Amino acid sequence: MSIHASTTRPEDPMQYGHFDDAAREYVITRPDTPRSWSNYLGSRLYGGIITQGAGGYSFYKSGGTGRVLRFRFNGVPQDEPGRFVYLRDDADGDFWSASWQPVGKPLKGRDGDDADAAGNPTQASSVRHGLGYSIFHSSYRGIDSEATFFIPQGQAFEYWSVKVTNTTAKPRKVSLFSYAELSNEWNYRQDLENLQYSQYVVVCRMEDGMIHRTNSTRTHTSELWFGMAGADVAGFDTDRDAFLGSYRTQAAPLAVERGHCSGSEATGDNACTSLQATLELAPGETRQVIYMMGVGAPDAAWADADDVAVRPGREIMAEYGTPEAVERELEAIREEWRSFLAPLQVATPDEQMNSMINVWHAYQTHMTFNWSRGVSLIEAGDRDGLGYRDTVQDMLAVIHAIPDAVRERLDMILTGQTEEGGAMPLVKPLTHRPGSEKTPTLEQYRSDDPLWLPITVANFVYETGDVAYLDTVLPYADHGEATVFEHLKQAIQFSLGHLGNNGLVQGLQADWNDCLQFGTTGESMFSTFLMANGVRIIAELAEQTGREDDAAWARGVLEDLEVVLENAWDGGWYIRGISSTGAKLGSEALDEGKIYLEPNVWAAISQTVPEARAIGAMDSVYERLSTEHGVALCAPAHTKEVPGVGLSLLVFPVGHKENGGIFCHANSWTIVAEGILGRGDRAYEYYRGFLPAKYNDQAELHQVEPYVYCQFTHGPESPRFGQARNPWLTGTASWSYVGVTQYILGVRPELSGLRIDPCLPEGWGGYQVTRRFRGMDLTINVVNVDGLATGVSSVTIDGVEVASTEDEGKRGALVPVEALGDGAVLTVTMG
Ligand code: GLC
Repeated sequence: MSIHASTTRPEDPMQYGHFDDAAREYVITRPDTPRSWSNYLGSRLYGGIITQGAGGYSFYKSGGTGRVLRFRFNGVPQDEPGRFVYLRDDADGDFWSASWQPVGKPLKGRDGDDADAAGNPTQASSVRHGLGYSIFHSSYRGIDSEATFFIPQGQAFEYWSVKVTNTTAKPRKVSLFSYAELSNEWNYRQDLENLQYSQYVVVCRMEDGMIHRTNSTRTHTSELWFGMAGADVAGFDTDRDAFLGSYRTQAAPLAVERGHCSGSEATGDNACTSLQATLELAPGETRQVIYMMGVGAPDAAWADADDVAVRPGREIMAEYGTPEAVERELEAIREEWRSFLAPLQVATPDEQMNSMINVWHAYQTHMTFNWSRGVSLIEAGDRDGLGYRDTVQDMLAVIHAIPDAVRERLDMILTGQTEEGGAMPLVKPLTHRPGSEKTPTLEQYRSDDPLWLPITVANFVYETGDVAYLDTVLPYADHGEATVFEHLKQAIQFSLGHLGNNGLVQGLQADWNDCLQFGTTGESMFSTFLMANGVRIIAELAEQTGREDDAAWARGVLEDLEVVLENAWDGGWYIRGISSTGAKLGSEALDEGKIYLEPNVWAAISQTVPEARAIGAMDSVYERLSTEHGVALCAPAHTKEVPGVGLSLLVFPVGHKENGGIFCHANSWTIVAEGILGRGDRAYEYYRGFLPAKYNDQAELHQVEPYVYCQFTHGPESPRFGQARNPWLTGTASWSYVGVTQYILGVRPELSGLRIDPCLPEGWGGYQVTRRFRGMDLTINVVNVDGLATGVSSVTIDGVEVASTEDEGKRGALVPVEALGDGAVLTVTMG
């Protein structure tokens, strides 16, 4: 940030942008956001992050081991370096950047002031974060620019396309300088930490108008190219320090200030890509300069470590380096996202719900599916692998949209389960070897990991109708193989084989809550409910697919559990767990950690306790944990050890993260739990409680992006109550999407059809859901003239009544798949 920039304008409302649903964009009108607001680019082949300040990075296949653009984590500001384009008025040397940062000119205020209080000219700057692209608009002293950044579909290169317009009546001469700092190594840690090596491996040359960066690393040589179309190269720098000058920052690079690059070529140290163009602009004239950067060499084909061939950069530039190609490729990205989001769209009385479900929430579920917990400004890339439990849950929200990709991931993750039924905590897809992975020790297992499988596998089968999937034989991680159905049973057998003294499931290294270690002797109530839920699902699957013995077995397990579950009732809610010495967590008798969210929501979700218990538990959650920003994970937060329980959450001050923070992932389950209980007002109140869009005009309080969910919000015991952290890659994306679409709007797949079971807040007159189901595009119009919370009295398809409203005492209507057809319009009347 430059010294000119003002970041606090207390007279402004706390709003930095707005949703533009028609364009599927979030428009940031004030780029001086409280924290960096990011967007994602590209695919799993070549991806990147870009913030509202054009900060961020790119990578080839992996953020951890395929780093292209360098990023310095925890920098000041939060998001540099990045993809910068400087503009310089050659008449007087004044310069700025196409994004507000890194030069950081005074920002034009809402009243359109042309100069700040000190008389400095102001820059109007806005950012459109779209799906897979970001566009930066700038207007400064009569020069407008529009810089568009994206990675074309299926390609391993990125576009930075810049249009510059002279809006004045005089001819203007403007120089453009690109700037990106390159990673010296594929491996980001080697690049950032092992400097005695990584600083001496890089060579960056100018070759016939294109920049060519090579290195000879210990793993695999990485090559990159960078070129420019639409203008002649007027100068270049490939040595970072020559471009910036010593003791300068990206806010004022020497080359830009001076007005010309120095023609430097890096041999060792650090490389950069700066190409200079000089534009003579007549009044009203627009010029477009297209920068392109990709993996490989300018003039030779290149193969990556997996022998995947990449074409020479010059060939790619010849084909793609035109304004028409940029337009076409950008439209292809937009079209691709339209097709990913089309399978589920809604029109409800809640505009923010619509913006989220139709665009941003769905987009976030895809990004979480793509990047797991490996790529963000917070997640450095270290977690290159797929966390078992996260991955299984991340699939839930995208099955209807990308069933084939889910199937592939599901197959892979099932092979991360070991023969004894536990699961590898982390599966590394690039190096995973089913059948020959090492079996974790009991101490290393997480008690919940494989217990997520029944939910996701069942939902995959319900969504696709692919019952045969249950018979597919897949290897275990260590040895042996079994059908998918057997994999599910084995997950339960693993838990049943590791019960504690009280008949609850041993907590092991952790359960869902990474910060609670009950170990091999203590017991977790969360995992016990998750197991019970898994057994219930297996029983249902077995009954519906003619596996009578399995169904009987599962029903028997549930019966045996009844007493155990009842014993875990603390009087007003369920305990969180018990240590080997009998010390409880989540009990009224304690001073700290009296009540925890997780076991209580899962009591309701699992449907394995009497309804009165589930209601009692959820009422206690409401009374004891609910706040205006969401539901705290536990209360009061912990300051002291609990004998026999590893409370690694003590590393967090009270109210942070797992120690009494509002952990959004677990908040999502409150929506599902209340949806199952049929309490529409509560389900909706919980949904709204941590809805990102709700914070659009409270951005200075919430601080992170109002268009995506974050991992947690500081809880009521934190001095930062209401501030949110760790946006984007979180299990919240998946579960809250399931919560709102399947348990409030109530459209969820079952084996024999689509259940429509609204659970609404008071006074909603109706809504529409368009949804793809087994290849059919359906329109579902829910009519609720009496403003009821739940209950369906009739369903008609194209005017003809089709479904019985009651089946097996379940709520809502199950519309049989045979009654549905592509293009069918369903009218669901509540009553
Ligand atoms: C993080 C982890 C997730 C865990 C949660 C609660 O979100 O990615 O695996 O369940 O924290 O500890």
